[in-house]
Amino acid sequence: MSLESQPNYRLATLADIPALETLIPLSARQLQTAHYTSTQIETALGPVFGVDRQLIHDGTYFVAETHQGLVGCGGWSRRKTLYGGDQGRSAPDPLRDPAVDPAMIRAFFVHPDHARRGIGRRLLEISEAAAAAAGFQGIEIVATLPGVPLYSSFHYETIERFNIALPNGEKMPVERMRKRPIYSPTAPAS
Ligand SMILES: CC(C)(COP(=O)(O)OP(=O)(O)OC[C@H]1O[C@@H](n2cnc3c(N)ncnc32)[C@H](O)[C@@H]1OP(=O)(O)O)[C@@H](O)C(=O)NCCC(=O)NCCS
Repeated sequence: MSLESQPNYRLATLADIPALETLIPLSARQLQTAHYTSTQIETALGPVFGVDRQLIHDGTYFVAETHQGLVGCGGWSRRKTLYGGDQGRSAPDPLRDPAVDPAMIRAFFVHPDHARRGIGRRLLEISEAAAAAAGFQGIEIVATLPGVPLYSSFHYETIERFNIALPNGEKMPVERMRKRPIYSPTAPAS
């Protein structure tokens, strides 16, 4: 990638939501096919893979942008919710306590034409740094199977494997991964 096309990383704003709503399905439909069926992906779009406006309001969600538009998104959360878009959520999402709770990594999606160029890595570095600066000691992610190699490369360890129940009755296998402290001596792993 030339220097000119290196993305700019910035906080997401509410004005990014239409572009995020295009990017997220594009990413999921093309980058998850080795692990999930098209029915699983289509059913997960919205409730599982979607925009969580609370993260944008909290200033904890980032986008990677080039002159062509958004090429990646991802962030962290100080809220209780583990994963998913905010579609249908009406109750407030309670805060976590940095003294005892881990922060959550949330909703990483990279444009398929820009995959494997370090965008996910950079978004994760930015998110971890922000969560640590907010006082969190540990960090977790409910990772899709395609996301596991990225988090493993940052020394996250799988602590639980479970299935998300999809609205059509199917299941989506995921891994809950954890890292504590947030910074590893040699993060990210090569
Ligand atoms: C998971 C995802 C965000 C990774 O983004 P990315 O920008 O392509 O990842 P990076 O280029 O920053 O990769 C960083 C490291 O993660 C690991 N990694 C990332 N994608 C990988 C893959 N497909 N296979 C193996 N390792 C991978 C590698 O160690 C990689 O380092 P390397 O390229 O030097 O070997 C992207 O594939 C994606 O959007 N997937 C679809 C949506 C999704 O499932 N998101 C995860 C939600 S939990």
